Amino acid sequence: MFLFKRPLISALFRRKIQYPKSLNIKPLITFQINKMSTTVTIPEKQSVIYYDKTGGPEVLQFSTDFPVPSDLASNEILVKNRYSGINYIETYFRNGIYPASFPYIPGREASGEIVAIGSDVKNFKIGDKIAYLGNQNFAQFTKLDSNKVSIINVGANATDDQLKLYAASLLQGLTAITLINEAYNVKEGDYILVTAAAGGVGLILVQLLSKIKKAHVIAVASTNEKLNKAKVNGAEFLLNSSELSYDQIADKILEITNGKGADGIFDSIGKDSFEMDMKSIKRKGTIVSFGNASGAVSPLSITRLSPKNVKIARPQLFGYVTEPEEFQFYTESLFDLIKNGDLKIDIYKVYALKDYKTATIEMEGRKTSGKILLEIPN
Ligand SMILES: NC(=O)c1ccc[n+]([C@@H]2O[C@H](COP(=O)([O-])OP(=O)(O)OC[C@H]3O[C@@H](n4cnc5c(N)ncnc54)[C@H](OP(=O)(O)O)[C@@H]3O)[C@@H](O)[C@H]2O)c1
Repeated sequence: MFLFKRPLISALFRRKIQYPKSLNIKPLITFQINKMSTTVTIPEKQSVIYYDKTGGPEVLQFSTDFPVPSDLASNEILVKNRYSGINYIETYFRNGIYPASFPYIPGREASGEIVAIGSDVKNFKIGDKIAYLGNQNFAQFTKLDSNKVSIINVGANATDDQLKLYAASLLQGLTAITLINEAYNVKEGDYILVTAAAGGVGLILVQLLSKIKKAHVIAVASTNEKLNKAKVNGAEFLLNSSELSYDQIADKILEITNGKGADGIFDSIGKDSFEMDMKSIKRKGTIVSFGNASGAVSPLSITRLSPKNVKIARPQLFGYVTEPEEFQFYTESLFDLIKNGDLKIDIYKVYALKDYKTATIEMEGRKTSGKILLEIPN
């Protein structure tokens, strides 16, 4: 069951931090709020994943001695995380493709319980369970601005399984649903190419494209096992990127489409597959390049778009769910699809927080499919 309560932004002021009587964690620390202090039972130290410099998985550290955020502002809430979703984007920050400041705690989405609120917070209370898009949640505790649009109150009675599902579906589900409606509005009967088709975003794309949009899905993945998973989820044509070069894959796509090419391409591989996209896109088709798994696409001259009047989009999720109405619309659509059984979230594996390094080595080594998650210790 999914509950969606829209956060209400309050103009009222309160001067006390609230905390649950049931939470009995030692030692005590003091929160400073609007120059007032309140003693709450939150531990001083927490377990986190962090890194101090860019690099490969070897830079990742697990600490049980990292400070819990203690400077809660009046509009902020403190969340005790339960599950955090692992997303490929973490590798871009760690490798230095995207800028990071140190010490850097990864994490973009999680679910958990609110354990402290600032004095002005009216839209949430202690004990509320939430799912959210936000940073720094490969950690036991995360501080959030309660007025951010990307927090969903899932109800105090949400079960552990529901919290797991929320953390598994939010970022990748919203990405897939916005890409196929906004970046290229897929039409019934379109031929659509999906790369990394058995990945987290990939498996959701394949389902939505085939079942909801009623498009013909051409799936690219690196093993037959992954392709079989894409097929079970609705892919019609399967192309193995370990057996075929990207150039040969482009030829196959032209064959499948009687020489016309794909109406739309959702490519998350980036650099290595970009020329495949240009070769296999249809006249007036749209290439949606939304990831850098093999590196960022090299700069190109816009005159390359002219021979086939091609459109290229390079979107990011947050640009589609910036406004509260957008976030609410797409989140409700996503959870309705899951609730109705039209979309299945394939949770491949749940790792302990301390094992994030192993998890990302497996993800970057292309060993995983579907969604991978971190379980955050109590
Ligand atoms: N723009 C946005 O807002 C947005 C939001 C979410 C995700 N994304 C992007 O979407 C993509 C998928 O994300 P995800 O979290 O769902 O990850 P994922 O697809 O579960 O994992 C990445 C997959 O990429 C494929 N891959 C292809 N070339 C690779 C290479 N050189 N190195 C490593 N993997 C390679 C692998 O599948 P095969 O082995 O089958 O090729 C691998 O399993 C990522 O590129 C991510 O950055 C973008």
